[in-house]
Amino acid sequence: MTKEVLAGKFREHYNKEADHFFFCPGRVNLIGEHIDYNGGMVMPFAISLGSYAAVSFNEDKTFRFRSIDFTEKADIPLAASYTKTGPEWYNYPLGVIHEFLKAGHSLKGMDLLFAGDLPVGTGLSSSASIEVLTGYLIAMLHNIDISKRSIALLSKRVENEFIGLSSGIMDQYAVALGKKNQALLLDCDTVTHEYMPFETGEYKLVIINSRKQRQLAESKYNERFGECREALAQLQTTLSITHLCEVKPEVFKQHEHLITDPVVRRRTWHVVTENDRVYQACAALKAGDIDRLGTLLYASHDSLRDDYQVSGKELDTIVEYCRRQEDCVGARMTGAGFGGCAIALVKERAIPEFSRQLIAYYDARIGYPPEVIVSEIGEGVKQM
Ligand code: GLA
Repeated sequence: MTKEVLAGKFREHYNKEADHFFFCPGRVNLIGEHIDYNGGMVMPFAISLGSYAAVSFNEDKTFRFRSIDFTEKADIPLAASYTKTGPEWYNYPLGVIHEFLKAGHSLKGMDLLFAGDLPVGTGLSSSASIEVLTGYLIAMLHNIDISKRSIALLSKRVENEFIGLSSGIMDQYAVALGKKNQALLLDCDTVTHEYMPFETGEYKLVIINSRKQRQLAESKYNERFGECREALAQLQTTLSITHLCEVKPEVFKQHEHLITDPVVRRRTWHVVTENDRVYQACAALKAGDIDRLGTLLYASHDSLRDDYQVSGKELDTIVEYCRRQEDCVGARMTGAGFGGCAIALVKERAIPEFSRQLIAYYDARIGYPPEVIVSEIGEGVKQM
């Protein structure tokens, strides 16, 4: 989406000019799934698709929310605080405004137009993208001195407290602090990061949207969060730990009897092995060992399918296809799961044929084609 298109749409909606334009990307996670809320290491990066906002101030102390992609709109008068109005999309930016007000900042009325080229509800973090986008534009336009890291943390509070999803920090952090051609190695315990060059030689990252709607994703997500809390409490009766990712796989094996529910035990096995895989993936990437990295991606998928049980027929079909392709070195579901997207590392020259055959393979088994997206690794939130 160009600034010119956005400016034109803003004019149509508000009958005046927009003064400022912002962009925030979506993200994919290379490896480290469902462990951010267990204090683990994750390796996400920002992509080139994302969400956009055009803004101008108004004089009538009102927050006006419009979107190119959704028909729902709202004019909300400035108040001391807000609560969620319902499932409408503008609750994400409203929640962010609420956080700024709660922190004691005085805000001016704004006319806002949002747009996005990120497919919504597909695990590419459209919600984190709009949260961080709103946080950043508020800070920039009101001269509030707040770091991108703090905007990510504030946006996570919106997701947890205002929206009601017990998610971790990964998505907000990745879309705020992503860097071109770099993976973020994010420690979700200390909430600190380092950048790692994403050098995969002749292989390129391909995103495959299963186009399966993520039914019950939120309640299942919160259920997994609860299972991890249960496991932590039971392990803490003997182990001195503050989160599950402190437990190494060997140590877990010696203490797994502490977890009474066999399902919860399997969930924990995913968490401790996935965290271990992130360290291994890091070493593989540093050594330029793409075959090893690919093997770890497949192992991560198997663990999410069998132990954490957040995959599904659609994502499994994509990964099963990938495993049969010589030109694909590794693949896995990415994000929360229950539908959404998978990623694959595929030889660049083979991508057109890989995609053509994948579409046919998936369509024949699932009944509709997936969407194949070749994305660059992009920058985090910015002014346009
Ligand atoms: C969602 C959440 C993240 C993370 C992933 C799974 O994207 O928002 O915090 O837990 O799922 O890794």
